[in-house]
Amino acid sequence: MFRSNIVSMTGYTPGEQPRGGDVVKLNTNENPYPCSPAVKAAIGRVCQAGLQKYPEPTALDFREAAAELLAAELPAITPEWILCGNGSDDVLTILTRTFVDSGDHVRFPRPSYVLYDTLAAIQGAKCDVVDFTPEWTLTDRFTKHCDKLRLAFLANPNSPSGTVLPPAEVARIAAALPCPLVVDEAYVDFADSNCLSLVGDSDRVIVTRTLSKSYALAGLRFGFAVAQPQVIEQLAKVKDSYNCDALAIAGATAAIGDRAWFDRTRAAVLETRARLLTELRARGFECVDSQANFIWCQPPGGDPKSLYERLKAAGILVRYMDYGESARGLRVTVGTDDQIDALLTKLDELLK
Ligand SMILES: Cc1ncc(COP(=O)(O)O)c(C=O)c1O
Repeated sequence: MFRSNIVSMTGYTPGEQPRGGDVVKLNTNENPYPCSPAVKAAIGRVCQAGLQKYPEPTALDFREAAAELLAAELPAITPEWILCGNGSDDVLTILTRTFVDSGDHVRFPRPSYVLYDTLAAIQGAKCDVVDFTPEWTLTDRFTKHCDKLRLAFLANPNSPSGTVLPPAEVARIAAALPCPLVVDEAYVDFADSNCLSLVGDSDRVIVTRTLSKSYALAGLRFGFAVAQPQVIEQLAKVKDSYNCDALAIAGATAAIGDRAWFDRTRAAVLETRARLLTELRARGFECVDSQANFIWCQPPGGDPKSLYERLKAAGILVRYMDYGESARGLRVTVGTDDQIDALLTKLDELLK
């Protein structure tokens, strides 16, 4: 009954989402703060008006607001440069379905976002994985030509490392690659730079973003791609007709309109990130400097899995990630100061 590549693939395993409320949840890079009150007000207004009609199919309200917001970095942008999705995972799916056929190759670095592997496998494509160097840079192997290469993904900032390749380096990579490059900027609002301007220079660069992290809306599901209009036109053929619901469109549009909330919350996350980094290092953890809302670290004693399990038993959930030989470690989301205090107190007890 099933396509053979579906039977043989593993399927993506999302981070644990425990049902009870009593967990310090630092495992899936959610924003620990409540979203802007403007989001709830906007959703309330949609509910009041009724949900019996389909939503506007292209999330035009959001695309207009986003084009205005992003014009400072990409002057050419108009709503025609933006495609919205049910989270950026939906956008990544649309991109893979648009560019990649069975037997094609998809390139991405390791360790990175595991979903790229899954999306390639669903298409029946081959993953061409390139290891990061120990300094979290990429060698020329990443841009090597291959007849079957159809798409490359680059999470920037990367997960789980939180490291960033500077825009000039990403531009060099995009120019050298024989295929489109998706720059997955899910965490970019916590970083010092972004690659949006590269979209203006090349129709081979596609930037994806999400409202799940920096806007605290992981539960609403809203993400988007920015690319040149002729690229968006093709992507739009592949998306579901109504891939963003009316509540998500209204909530996301209100969210990007509340700049005071955004600036305040971003500053709080960055402050706690700096503290978490210092405190983990003081406890003997090897940590990578992060430009995202999480920190990738190796605990003292070299057994991240056991520490993950002991923290979990104590009601503190971090992410244990195992990429085989290339990397094993803990990815700790930047929570509230109280959550980080709870983590540090428990670590002091467990590492005694
Ligand atoms: C690198 C990266 N890209 C994309 C996503 C997907 O985000 P969402 O589908 O919530 O927009 C995630 C989620 O954790 C991520 O880590």
